[in-house]
Amino acid sequence: AEKGGYEHFMMKEMMEQPRAVANTLHPRIKDGKVVFEDEGLTDERMAKAKHIHIVGCGSALHAGMVGRSVIEKLCRVRCTASIASEFRYENPIIEPDDLCIVISQSGETADTLAAMRQAKKAGAYTVAIVNVVSSTIAREADGVLYLWAGPEIAVATTKAYSAQLAALYLFAIKLASVRGKITAEQEKTYCDALYQLPEQIDTMLGTKEKMQYIATRYANRSSIFFLGRGLDYAAAMEASLKLKEISYIHSEAYAAGELKHGTISLIEEGTLVVALATQPELYEKTISNIREVVARGAEVVLVTGEDFDGDASYCSSVLRLPKLPHEFSASLSIVPLQLLSYYIAVERSCDVDKPRNLAKSVTVE
Ligand code: G6P
Repeated sequence: AEKGGYEHFMMKEMMEQPRAVANTLHPRIKDGKVVFEDEGLTDERMAKAKHIHIVGCGSALHAGMVGRSVIEKLCRVRCTASIASEFRYENPIIEPDDLCIVISQSGETADTLAAMRQAKKAGAYTVAIVNVVSSTIAREADGVLYLWAGPEIAVATTKAYSAQLAALYLFAIKLASVRGKITAEQEKTYCDALYQLPEQIDTMLGTKEKMQYIATRYANRSSIFFLGRGLDYAAAMEASLKLKEISYIHSEAYAAGELKHGTISLIEEGTLVVALATQPELYEKTISNIREVVARGAEVVLVTGEDFDGDASYCSSVLRLPKLPHEFSASLSIVPLQLLSYYIAVERSCDVDKPRNLAKSVTVE
């Protein structure tokens, strides 16, 4: 009954993504503006930060990587996304007015908590993006942006990741507005687009049958690669993690331009490469990388924007995203790739909700 008629929690939670994202977004968008009321994020606090540090582990880190890209693009402020377990021992340079965004679904991940404590000690103002209410990270952070995504049971996160992205977009828009980097009109355009996001995620969930079909074709592969540049690279990392977590297929995400520096030697006849190209200014570059792998026998599934008008005839499948500001594309491109991982794992009879050796919440170092 708890699975609501679905075979696995993961499928149920993927299907809940439109609602989860709406729950994160809607209470914080008012009259075309991002409004933070109980989050502990004042305009003054946001205006004076010189550096935004983002920390997290696993999918939370991947959400942070997308967020970093969006924040730097919209706000032109220095922003770094760090692996929490590295951040804690790297003696990071933290100035008193810096903001540290701590991302964690559970709010209990040991490395993320330790990184947050360290940033706080160094004088940064800490803001947690957390799902579990009153978790340790939520309690100890200076400010909290709750996701309100509802309980997530499957070890492999889907709806919390999507809600984390949504929270980061809100943060980026607010920061850009406070710092005068976007006009009120631009803020409204972004907010209106965010309002559409849950429905667009729902549209992407409609690729279910197509992804199931693709999954049956590639479920027996020993290795699958994901490629992308910029934002798409960050999204590719999450897609690759999803696949390896639940299907046990070896998978790597590569920044498309790095391909020729090593990975291309692994491409052979029939290798599946999932390529993400959703940023128009990078279409051409990524397409030339796709041609390189196709020339070496790879079969390519391309995820691209609705406005892509290049030649994609050499790809085995093409998935197009509905129109949205390109900064938000990771929210849509990840959905069919979550479905792909799910169906590949089911095809391989894996324990989808409880993959071997993994825990939902890692409370030890
Ligand atoms: C574990 C989970 C991952 C998750 C990571 C961070 O490794 O298996 O799915 O992304 O922890 O968890 P958190 O609760 O901090 O988001």
